[in-house]
Amino acid sequence: MLDQAEALRHYWNDRGPVWVEHRERLDAMLAPLGEAAIARLHPDPGEHLLDVGCGTGTTTLELARLVGEGGFVTGVDVSAPMLDEARRRADGAGMANVSFVVADAGAHRFEPRHHDGVFSRMGIMFFAEPVAGFTNLRRALRPGGRLGFVCWRSPGENSWVTEPGQAVAEVLGPPDPMDPEAPGPFSLASADRISSVLTEAGLVDIDITPCDLPVTIGGGTTDELVRYYMDLLPGTAVPENAEVHVIDRVKAALGAMVERRRTPDGITMGGAAWLVSARA
Ligand SMILES: C[S@@+](CC[C@H](N)C(=O)[O-])C[C@H]1O[C@@H](n2cnc3c(N)ncnc32)[C@H](O)[C@@H]1O
Repeated sequence: MLDQAEALRHYWNDRGPVWVEHRERLDAMLAPLGEAAIARLHPDPGEHLLDVGCGTGTTTLELARLVGEGGFVTGVDVSAPMLDEARRRADGAGMANVSFVVADAGAHRFEPRHHDGVFSRMGIMFFAEPVAGFTNLRRALRPGGRLGFVCWRSPGENSWVTEPGQAVAEVLGPPDPMDPEAPGPFSLASADRISSVLTEAGLVDIDITPCDLPVTIGGGTTDELVRYYMDLLPGTAVPENAEVHVIDRVKAALGAMVERRRTPDGITMGGAAWLVSARA
């Protein structure tokens, strides 16, 4: 049987190609939150940074631009297909101050006490063992080095999750209760939990600030938007063994929600996140 870290690695590698396919829409959705988190980390020219759970590399490339040719950014992600895309983009942009490592950021042996900053845009909530994971990242920071990331608050505060979730529940019934601390997009939804995990990991000067920003799902046909929800967004996947008529009803329910929420500028819903900073 696979242990939890191994199962998560398989999950992200299997799902990688779909995330690559939807990259532009996802980037538009996460851009305001990522920009807020980068502004708080405030990368300086010449710094060496880690981008945890960097996916297809959008924030890695932006951080590399900010640290300039004298700095360096390492993107780390468990998903090989996503990093293939990140490397392709870095090569296309001719950027020599980035590299990408396929690894579990919670366990990989980074060069100790080397990095000035560790960053993540929604890629740091998936460690099988969060205290061990953040301890590993602290060890990669030089003394006094900065941790800065953005993660989701609770699903109930994020209408981009609850609204499609309600549409799906109309067909499938309410979802099974989830362990709120299980690895996943909402595992760090509690500020108390973030604080205790980071403290146990040996980090100091912890600051956890709420950030409410619109989440743009964008425009496109109803079919495109329904597929985006079902492919990528939490709470809208149907069970693998679902019958075709059930899948069709879920698509219809999501399609009705899309039609209801569509504006001439596409769909925008409420997003609630934490901006977190700390020091090694
Ligand atoms: C929600 S996506 C965010 C991707 C990217 N940061 C962005 O903003 O587009 C979460 C990412 O975390 C990665 N991930 C999950 N667990 C990880 C781990 N233990 N170590 C490194 N990356 C991980 C996934 O493969 C995925 O790319």
